[in-house]
Amino acid sequence: MNLRLITIIAVLTVSCKTKTSNWQTLYFGDFKLKAPTDWRKFKEQGIDAYIGGLTNGKDSLWFYFGSYVSGFQGDNKNYLFAQDTINGKIAAIKIPKKDSDGSIEMFINNADGDTKFVLAASGTNKELILDIFKSVVFQTSDTTNNGVLTFAKFKEYPLGSGTTIYQATCTACHSKNKNLTGPALTSELLNSRTTNWLYTFFKDRQHLQTDSSYLTRKKEFEDMECIQLTDYSKEDVNQLIAYLKER
Ligand code: HEC
Repeated sequence: MNLRLITIIAVLTVSCKTKTSNWQTLYFGDFKLKAPTDWRKFKEQGIDAYIGGLTNGKDSLWFYFGSYVSGFQGDNKNYLFAQDTINGKIAAIKIPKKDSDGSIEMFINNADGDTKFVLAASGTNKELILDIFKSVVFQTSDTTNNGVLTFAKFKEYPLGSGTTIYQATCTACHSKNKNLTGPALTSELLNSRTTNWLYTFFKDRQHLQTDSSYLTRKKEFEDMECIQLTDYSKEDVNQLIAYLKER
C-alpha cells in the first residue's frame, strides 16, 4: 500500500469515530464525564455541597452536587430550553438566546437519590459544551438510555422541558406534598397512574368520563377540573410526564 492510501484510510477511520471517542474521562467521585484532553479539573470549597469544575484555560464548566438548589434560578427570558435523557437521567438544559449573553446550564433533579446536579458553562463553543453535558455519568446512571438532543429542539420558555412546563403551568394549583386547589402530586399518586393514563388525562380527557377512579378524584375536589394541555405537542406532554414521574 502506498503512503497516500494509508493516510486516506487513517483519516477516514478517525472521522468515522464519534466526536468524543478520543476524549479523556475525568473522575469526580460521585460522577464522571468526558472532555477533550486539554481540559483540567479544579475544586472549589462548598459548605453543604460538592462544588468544582473543569477548564481548558479559555472555557470553563462549574458543577454543583447537593440538595439545596431547585431548577433554573433567575430571569429566564433570555434563554431557550430543552429536556434530554442523559445516561438515563432526565436533564433540563438552557442556552442563552444570544451567544455570550449568559451561561449554558444543565439541571438534573435526581442525580443520585434526592441529590441535585447543576453544570454551568461559560464559553461560546455550544456543541462542545453540550457534548460534555451528554457524557455525565452518576453511580445510578443507565448508559444505554440516551436522547438525541440537538440545538434545533430548544424552545422558548415555558415549552421545551418538563421542568419548565411544570413550574410555569402547574405550581399555581399543585405542590408535591400538600393539597392546594388540586391534589398533592406525590410519587404515590403519580405511580398509581400509567404514562398512557396521564397522557389521556392531559390530551383526551373526554375518554375518561367512564373511568371511575378519575370521577372519584374529581368529586373529592368538588368537581373542579385540572387544566388540559390541548395546545401542547405530544413531545411536550411526554416530557412533562417523564418529569413528573422522575422528580
Ligand atoms: C387551575 C388549577 C389547576 C392547574 C393549573 C393544574 N391542575 Fe392538575 N388538578 C387540578 C384539580 C382541581 C384536580 C382534581 C380534579 C381532576 O382530576 O381533574 C387536578 C388533578 C390533577 C392530577 C390527578 C389526576 C388523577 O386523578 O390521578 C394530576 C396528575 C394533575 N392534576 C397534574 C397537573 C399538571 C401536571 C398540571 C400542569 C400542566 C396541572 N395539573 C395544572 C387543578 C389544577
